[in-house]
Amino acid sequence: MMKQSHAGNQARSAWSQYWELDGAREQRAVGGPRYRGAFEQFWRDELEAEFDARANLKVLDAACGDGAVTRQCVEIWQGHPDCALELHATDCSERALASIEALSLPVDPALVVADAKALPYAEASFDCVLSQCGLEYAGIEAFAAAASLVADGGRLMALVHHDHGLIHQECGAHHDMLSAIDESGVFKQGKALFDLQRLRDRGEVLPQVVDDAAADLGRELAGLLAGLDVYPRDGARQHAERLLQDYSMLCRRHGAYAPDQACQWLDFHQGALTAFRLRMESMMAAGQGEAELRQLEAVIDDAGLRQIETGTLRAADTGEPLAWSLSACAA
Ligand SMILES: C[S@@+](CC[C@H](N)C(=O)[O-])C[C@H]1O[C@@H](n2cnc3c(N)ncnc32)[C@H](O)[C@@H]1O
Repeated sequence: MMKQSHAGNQARSAWSQYWELDGAREQRAVGGPRYRGAFEQFWRDELEAEFDARANLKVLDAACGDGAVTRQCVEIWQGHPDCALELHATDCSERALASIEALSLPVDPALVVADAKALPYAEASFDCVLSQCGLEYAGIEAFAAAASLVADGGRLMALVHHDHGLIHQECGAHHDMLSAIDESGVFKQGKALFDLQRLRDRGEVLPQVVDDAAADLGRELAGLLAGLDVYPRDGARQHAERLLQDYSMLCRRHGAYAPDQACQWLDFHQGALTAFRLRMESMMAAGQGEAELRQLEAVIDDAGLRQIETGTLRAADTGEPLAWSLSACAA
């Protein structure tokens, strides 16, 4: 059976929180700066062929995030001015769609907030239904739903999370690192420190008690920081190191901060860390194995699509798997 990740409410809100973040799109794109090129090459090859073959193209990018594939589709279309493009994009996160809207692309995509297994379109509405590491978050039904939207002569094309791929491994390492911080209790300890500081301000505990608690927490944070050495030296680790360094500073200079302000800082960063961990969990749960890929082919076949082709998108440098590729045609 295909893994039914069915990103729950928590995971969906973790994604929304992610799409709210400012930051370079290329850092956020699936595959990150290192592997993004392989993903882009796949879509370039697939979409160039579609634009070459048609005078009109109606495209849906399902679970589009902040529009990595939507944007690429527009870029490729700009090299085919004779082809009329109608572009639609959906995601469960309104924030993700808002960031596409803010781009003011030369072709305005019609944006709809929707769960990928309940896409609000009539059957056979699109020439191309695309998804980059998206449909699998909504479970196998999303592939059947996407297949039903493909018009005669049209295609479904998807890149799907691979449960042994490099991205899966990175997510696993990030998840373990974030869990180690989240579960260490340092945020709770920080709250307790600033509760003590409130008591000290009212003269109910001695300053030494607060200083001792700060020193204990400082040692915990130093231990966590040193423990990050076992994780790959990448953007997520840098992010975690910065957080722990800032937190250590807050702890050292605890007397300089108003407890309410410090607790707000702690709540914000714990919330962001938990959201990051939940997002990693949802990505790993969405990873599909060989047997699950066969299941996907069967569902797409049942939906009436033919010429079903699956393959493995691989990293150019190591040849290791990044994602599954899947394409199928409506007769
Ligand atoms: C790995 S991201 C990929 C986004 C985009 N396709 C890209 O390549 O950058 C997964 C996306 O699936 C969305 N998502 C998660 N569960 C979903 C669901 N049940 N229905 C629709 N979208 C979902 C998330 O909001 C997120 O934008």
